[in-house]
Amino acid sequence: MTVDPGMRTVTTWYLEQTAPGDLREAPGPEPSAGVRIVRAQVPSAEFSRFLYASVGADVEWTDRLPWPGARWQEWLERPGVETWVAYERGTPAGFMELDGASPDTSARATRPGRAVEISYFGLLPAFRGRRIGAHLLGFGAARAWDMAERWPDREPTNRVWLHTCTKDGPHALRNYQRRGFRIFAKEVAQEPAAPAANASATPASAGQGPAPAAPLVPRPDRREPSQGSRPADM
Ligand SMILES: CC(C)(COP(=O)(O)OP(=O)(O)OC[C@H]1O[C@@H](n2cnc3c(N)ncnc32)[C@H](O)[C@@H]1OP(=O)(O)O)[C@@H](O)C(=O)NCCC(=O)NCCS
Repeated sequence: MTVDPGMRTVTTWYLEQTAPGDLREAPGPEPSAGVRIVRAQVPSAEFSRFLYASVGADVEWTDRLPWPGARWQEWLERPGVETWVAYERGTPAGFMELDGASPDTSARATRPGRAVEISYFGLLPAFRGRRIGAHLLGFGAARAWDMAERWPDREPTNRVWLHTCTKDGPHALRNYQRRGFRIFAKEVAQEPAAPAANASATPASAGQGPAPAAPLVPRPDRREPSQGSRPADM
């Protein structure tokens, strides 16, 4: 078998919780670290773009880089979209974006209620490895489960899901599993090898599809496993 040096294998895992009792919250950083998690209640394209670009720069988050401000704003203003921000002594350390606005079109939407996707989650590099991520994931997943308490007429959450891949941080998958998320599908794909160091500043195509000519692999913005993906067996 020939190996194309211009390509790499990327594995994507899809994980979910199907009941609030699935969540295992984690011990967070010491209180003396001064970490607080606050919801950014005013939708702000600029602030969300800062969080997304700062957290995602070294893990190849590229799909939203070309979004103009108006598109960010429209995305954030949908009822059920929430941005939770972790601060360490007043400095933004990371965030979780919850998308409870998009319809759950997957075959897994079998029970009454609304699904919430953890659409983006992560820490700025300087804040990783000190229990902030475990704490923010546990806290944020709990907010996904009680989202109906904050939005009038919203049905209770019936499923919290996300996807992560080998391009994310080395401990991302384990963190999700340790907080009680279960893998329900896995995809393995060949993609162009890692982009050049400055590629994150290169706009990918507008919208959610892959950039046609750029050596970027935009993280899919909104998708459940494709029909060909395998049920998880790992
Ligand atoms: C993934 C990420 C959120 C983890 O946050 P963190 O603050 O660095 O990690 P923590 O110190 O809180 O540890 C959280 C969990 O990660 C795992 N982990 C962290 N460091 C680890 C290590 N050295 N070895 C093994 N597992 C480790 C553990 O499961 C740990 O929880 P546990 O001790 O209860 O099992 C963070 O590193 C990050 O933002 N990375 C880049 C962006 C990203 O990958 N986002 C998530 C995917 S979309």
